[in-house]
Amino acid sequence: MSARTAIVTGGASGIGEAVSRRLAADGALVAIFDLNGEAARDTAASIEKEGGKAVGLAVDVTDRAAVDAGVAEVRARLGRPAILVNNAGLAVVQPSLEVTAEDWNRLLAVNLTGTFSCCQAVLPDMLDEGWGRIVNISSSSVHSGSSRMAAYVAAKSGVVGLTKVLALEFSPKGITVNTIPPGFIDSPMLRDTVERGFVDLEQQTRQTPVGRIGRPEDVAAACAFLVSEEAGYITGQVIGVNGGRNT
Ligand SMILES: NC(=O)c1ccc[n+]([C@@H]2O[C@H](COP(=O)([O-])OP(=O)(O)OC[C@H]3O[C@@H](n4cnc5c(N)ncnc54)[C@H](O)[C@@H]3O)[C@@H](O)[C@H]2O)c1
Repeated sequence: MSARTAIVTGGASGIGEAVSRRLAADGALVAIFDLNGEAARDTAASIEKEGGKAVGLAVDVTDRAAVDAGVAEVRARLGRPAILVNNAGLAVVQPSLEVTAEDWNRLLAVNLTGTFSCCQAVLPDMLDEGWGRIVNISSSSVHSGSSRMAAYVAAKSGVVGLTKVLALEFSPKGITVNTIPPGFIDSPMLRDTVERGFVDLEQQTRQTPVGRIGRPEDVAAACAFLVSEEAGYITGQVIGVNGGRNT
């Protein structure tokens, strides 16, 4: 990869961290946007220690002004963003009848509206360059549904629809837009749901054809391909990384 500038949201933990590390290893200049600014800076520092180029910024994707300010800072420090990986996400498991309006709005704000805001914020740069790559991280739960995750699955399903719309609008301008819906990936988010008793990892492993839970690096590898030059004919697609559970 030539030295293109990439923004990875939620890049301080789990899947986003693996994506940030992989894109930096492939030669991208990586900006990590995360609610946890300290963790974003630590991850960026660790990438730089390994010879990559990265900056970590405290950006809440639900705050449009903060997103725009973050993108302006990226432009000044790393150049125009050409790659965006919308990975920041929040999962809440609760029975549908207990979901409050506040819970619902928060889940949609982070997982869906945050994704759209980041796309809107970087698309003008991509249009000016006539080249861009957007990868939205959705969830395998959009294939199957997931009991007690109404707001999460609704938001992630929205991400799939949004991806298709943006692909239709922007692919003629050299910008591809795809979504990766991961299956069970070993990250702090998954560990948290396991510890709370919502997910039985042994059972999930048995139900996964490749016979293991996914690693953040599995998603990062797919992402690295989708943002590459040679993936230019792949757009508007849902590319599952789930060990064969959903086809
Ligand atoms: N781990 C899985 O099994 C799995 C499965 C399907 C989908 N996903 C999706 O993958 C993405 C990454 O998940 P993960 O498992 O690595 O989770 P994680 O909790 O380890 O990491 C999520 C990161 O997003 C950041 N974040 C949360 N809200 C934010 C906000 N408003 N603004 C900016 N950053 C914010 C967090 O601080 C954290 O660093 C999420 O979108 C998640 O829904 C994960």
